[in-house]
Amino acid sequence: MMSILFLKSLLSLYIVLAAFTAMFTMFEILGKGEKKYDIAKLKKIHRANGIVYLLVYLFISYFCLNFIISSKAELMPRGTFHSIFALTIIVLLGLKISFVRIYRQFYGNVQTIGLLIALITFGMVATSGGYYLLVTEFGTDKTFDEIMEYKKKGPLMVTEKKDEWIKVIVKTDSESIGRGKNLFDSKCIFCHDPYSLSTIVGPGLKGILKNLTLPVSHRPATPENVQNQLRQPFSKMPPFAYLSDEEVADIIAFLNTL
Ligand code: HEC
Repeated sequence: MMSILFLKSLLSLYIVLAAFTAMFTMFEILGKGEKKYDIAKLKKIHRANGIVYLLVYLFISYFCLNFIISSKAELMPRGTFHSIFALTIIVLLGLKISFVRIYRQFYGNVQTIGLLIALITFGMVATSGGYYLLVTEFGTDKTFDEIMEYKKKGPLMVTEKKDEWIKVIVKTDSESIGRGKNLFDSKCIFCHDPYSLSTIVGPGLKGILKNLTLPVSHRPATPENVQNQLRQPFSKMPPFAYLSDEEVADIIAFLNTL
């Protein structure tokens, strides 16, 4: 399945292309003595290009805001710059359109604003899609810094000693479930939606222990295998080896309620 972040990165490449197109058409329309192209046509292209840019921008913003809201992620410096760029762009775009359509006396500023939009677009894309494509070797889904950290340490052995895992007794008291929920909210929610099956970075975990098998490894959906997943994760998830047995048991108690 194509990760939503990969899709977003591809769209952001399109956004760069659109910024170049906008600049090129603007230079050709305004900046040349003798005109090589049909100006009316260039204006049309410039406008259509701007509209598609805006639509893609809104589409991506929707997912970004959705991600921030559902993950309740604190913005890291990169994310902060990215949001500032994005907000500046939408404000400038609004200004530019209003100068073209309504406040014609300011028309002279339109070129500068257009250039600014294009330049800030490059900054915006560099801090998101550019970064993402760079660190993931073009989109193999290992998005987040944690995963990169984990990748640096090299692949973990998938355990062959499954029988040696102590049988986990699933706790059902409300204190354990409450502690488990708190742990989940601080360590897992960034990558896993507990209340649906939709993927953030890892799969949604709704009904995780009620299903027959785990979503990615297709191992039996047992508390032991979930514990296993935290200690020596299957594939790309970072390990949580530092969690105590009690903490893992609490998380499992919470997962059991989903
Ligand atoms: C940095 C992102 C990230 C964090 C944080 C994270 N996971 Fe995961 N998790 C993943 C990914 C990615 C997968 C899918 C495995 C894959 O594709 O390699 C996964 C898979 C899983 C699976 C399914 C495993 C299987 O066998 O199918 C479970 C269960 C799980 N995670 C539980 C947790 C719990 C509980 C926490 C918190 C303690 C957690 N994860 C934290 C990224 C994360």
